[in-house]
Amino acid sequence: MSAERPDGANILEARGLSLRFGGATIVDDVSLAIPEGLFVSIIGPNGAGKTSFFNLLSGLYRPTAGRVLLDGADLSGLPPAARVRRGLGRSFQLTSIFPGLSTFENARLAAQAARAGNFAFWRSATRDRTVRERAVWALETVGLRGRDQALAGSLAHGDKRKLDLALLLCGEPRVLLLDEPTAGVSAEEVPIMLDVIHQIRRVEGKTILMVEHKMDVVHDLSDRVAVLANGRLVAYDTPATVMADPFVRSAYLGVT
Ligand SMILES: Nc1ncnc2c1ncn2[C@@H]1O[C@H](COP(=O)(O)OP(=O)(O)OP(=O)(O)O)[C@@H](O)[C@H]1O
Ligand SMILES: [Mg+2]
Repeated sequence: MSAERPDGANILEARGLSLRFGGATIVDDVSLAIPEGLFVSIIGPNGAGKTSFFNLLSGLYRPTAGRVLLDGADLSGLPPAARVRRGLGRSFQLTSIFPGLSTFENARLAAQAARAGNFAFWRSATRDRTVRERAVWALETVGLRGRDQALAGSLAHGDKRKLDLALLLCGEPRVLLLDEPTAGVSAEEVPIMLDVIHQIRRVEGKTILMVEHKMDVVHDLSDRVAVLANGRLVAYDTPATVMADPFVRSAYLGVT
C-alpha cells in the first residue's frame, strides 16, 4: 500500500497479515501502512474481519502469516501488554473497568499499570504524582473530570465508553486502535464521543485506527479509509475516493 512518507517511515505497518481458523480464512494477506499522525478508518460488512485484523495488530491473535511493525520494529511474538508498552494502545471495550472503584481510581490504576515493570517506580513519590497527573489529564480529555469520584459501575453507558477511552489514554499510546467506539452510545452522546476522539487526534497528534460503521463519521474524521471484505483489503484511499468508488459503494456499503 502507498507509503505517505518518502522515507517509508510509517508508524504502523501490516505486511501480508493472514489469519486462518481451520479451513476459514478470516484475514487474507492484508498489507497496510499507516503514516504517523493519520486518522485511518476501517470499514466493511459484518464479519469482514475488521476486529480480527485489530486482534492481529494488538497481539491478541497470532497471525498464520505476515508481520506487524511499529516504527519499523517487528512485533511478532510480543504479547498484547508488551505492544501496549511500546505505544500500540487498544481500547479495553469496557472489560477492564473495575465497577466497584471510582472513575479516578480506574484511571490511576491504568496509568500505574502502564508504568509497571519499573521496580524503582514504586518508591518514587514524583512518579506517583506523574501517574495521578496522567489519570487527571486522561479524565479531563474525555470530559469525565466532574465524575471523578463516581463509582465506575454507576456511570451511564456513554460515560463508561469515555472511561474506556481514558484508560486507553493512560497507557500513553502513540497509536490508538478503536473498535466501534460509538457502538451502543446514545444518539445525543455520539457527537460528544466523536469530539473527544477528534480532540485526541488534533491536540495530541496521535495516530488513530478506527473501525466504524457510521459512514458520515468516517467521512468527516478520516484522512484515509481502508475497506475490508471477506478478510481482504479491497480499497485504501481518501474518504472521498473510497466512497465514490462504485465497486465499494455497491458491494460493500450497500449503496446502489
Ligand atoms: N476466534 C475465532 N474463531 C473462529 N472464528 C472467528 C474468530 N474470531 C472471528 N471469527 C470469524 O471471523 C470472521 C470475521 O470476524 P470479525 O469479528 O473479525 O468481523 P468484523 O468485521 O469485526 O465484523 P463486525 O462488523 O460484525 O464487528 C467472522 O466470520 C467470525 O465468525
Ligand atoms: Mg468487529
